[in-house]
Amino acid sequence: MTIFNNLWGVPVYKINTNYTFSNFTPEAKEYIDDYINSSVENSKTANVFVERGHFLDNLKLEKIKEIINQQAHYFRDNIMMCKNELQIQSSWLTVNHKGSNHPIHNHAHTIFSICYYPRAETGHLILQAPDGKSTWQRDYRMGFEYTELNEWNATNWTIPVMSGDIVIFPGWVQHSTTPNESEEPRLMIGTNYWLKGNMQFFDELDRINI
Ligand SMILES: [Fe+2]
Repeated sequence: MTIFNNLWGVPVYKINTNYTFSNFTPEAKEYIDDYINSSVENSKTANVFVERGHFLDNLKLEKIKEIINQQAHYFRDNIMMCKNELQIQSSWLTVNHKGSNHPIHNHAHTIFSICYYPRAETGHLILQAPDGKSTWQRDYRMGFEYTELNEWNATNWTIPVMSGDIVIFPGWVQHSTTPNESEEPRLMIGTNYWLKGNMQFFDELDRINI
């Protein structure tokens, strides 16, 4: 009998929504164009627009929020397999002009993060293994000569992204992007999710209500 599974793995989910910047309502396009026009073109790193962490709360972006929320619930129902209520804890926009990338970082106070790319003509999202170590490097670093990289021996994982893509991963995962090579600014709308409601493990002593 062969057991081939991914015990205690890092759940990373990707889907193309077929909803891109060109499908946005005129109001949403105009709203986001204003940010693109105000961004710094020769910046080596991403222009990040936070709007006090509530970028998606603008009613002009309602449809975008709905599409992102739909995927968050799919992730909760089918991958996390829980029925806790979710809430968007923060959302923001990033604009990457040609030659700029997003340096490595993670998202604190986040159960999972969603990267939605309304427009991405080139580029990769790179996820780094926990502590930068693959499964075979937890307590030692041998000179393994791998014949092929897989999810157990790789120390980082490259995910190509294109317009309309959504990628979901736990907030603690360190990640970065490669530079945008296109003349068209790459756009990403990010969201961090947290749980909501009443939670307890055993009894009222470990209960929290958020
Ligand atoms: Fe990020």
